[in-house]
Order: sequence, then C-alpha cells, then structure tokens
Amino acid sequence: MNVLVGYATAHGSTREIAQRLCSRLRAAGLNAEARSLETVDDADAYRAFVLGSAVHGQAWLAPAKEFLRTHHDLLAARPVWIFSVGMPGALRGPWKRVAGTEEPVIVRDLPGPLSYREHRLLSGVIAPQHLPLRGRVLFRLMGCRYGDLRDWPAIDTWAADIADTLSRT
Ligand SMILES: Cc1cc2nc3c(=O)[nH]c(=O)nc-3n(C[C@H](O)[C@H](O)[C@H](O)COP(=O)(O)O)c2cc1C
Repeated sequence: MNVLVGYATAHGSTREIAQRLCSRLRAAGLNAEARSLETVDDADAYRAFVLGSAVHGQAWLAPAKEFLRTHHDLLAARPVWIFSVGMPGALRGPWKRVAGTEEPVIVRDLPGPLSYREHRLLSGVIAPQHLPLRGRVLFRLMGCRYGDLRDWPAIDTWAADIADTLSRT
C-alpha cells in the first residue's frame, strides 16, 4: 500500500520524525514515502496518510494547513493519522499542564472538518537560535529546557501501531 508521510518543517526536526516513521512503515512492508507537503503533486496516488507539522504559535505551519484544505475530499475517504511537533517535553513543573491544553487548540485550528484515526503531539528540537528574543525570555521565565526532546521509541511504537492497523484494512 502506498502511504504518504507528509510534513511541514521550519528547522528540520519534523522532517526527521517523518523520515523515521516512514522507515518503520517500510520495514513493516508498506510502500511509504516521506515528503515535504509542499512538494506532493499527486496526492491521489496514496492510499493512506500520516501528516505532520511543526507547531508555531499553537498552530500547524501554513503549507501543512494548505494541504489539508486542498485535499479535503481525498483525505475524508482514506485513513489519516496526524502529528504535531512542538515542545511538550521542554516544559517543567507546573508548566507541564500547558501541553495538555495545547493539543485541542492545535487540532481546533486545523482546516476541517478533518476525519483522522489519531493525533499525536510529539516533542521536537528546540534551540535558543530558533526563537526571537521575546520567545527566549519567555522560555527562560517558564524554566523550559532546550535540546533534542524527541522520543524515538515512542515514535517507533506509533509507526508499528499504524502499520498494524493498515495491514488489517
Ligand atoms: C517561532 C516558534 C514558535 C513556536 N511555537 C510553539 C508553540 O506554540 N507550541 C509548541 O509546542 N512548540 C512551539 N515551538 C517549538 C517547535 O514547534 C519545536 O521546536 C519543533 O521541534 C519545531 O519543528 P521543526 O524543527 O520541524 O521546525 C515553536 C518554535 C518556534 C521557532
């Protein structure tokens, strides 16, 4: 089965997550392809979709939202999983609660109605040079930690779950 693992990224960590998901789906026997959503020219060629975006200001990046808008009818007819790459893992102490409140905000902002099997909010990579001065000050005030916060075992497990579901459809 042809599966698109499509992504929108600003600094690359979402692309690497998409590539990892793709390699795991391929290892499970699926014909998966990881592509930037801006470069997909024949969406109809895919029988299933795993779509993700970096999160800025609690929202997906514009090219990813544009893909959902453009292919609304197609996505409604095929299995879809979605993932958002933000920084829940950077939050500490009482701020950890913010991660739980962010997820519904991100999903509500997606062009829809969008029907999907599951949404995951994953941690990506956050570095000081990615943020404007105001963001760096806020980050420090909140006691957040910089770094590569990706949870590869959890990503691999999710890919295995998706592959398992697709193998039964
Ligand atoms: C300008 C900017 C705004 C961000 N806003 C959010 C946000 O609202 N929520 C969040 O969870 N992460 C936010 N992040 C963190 C990024 O989503 C995270 O670093 C992610 O790994 C970026 O993915 P990328 O490397 O594919 O661009 C922001 C990062 C930047 C640079």
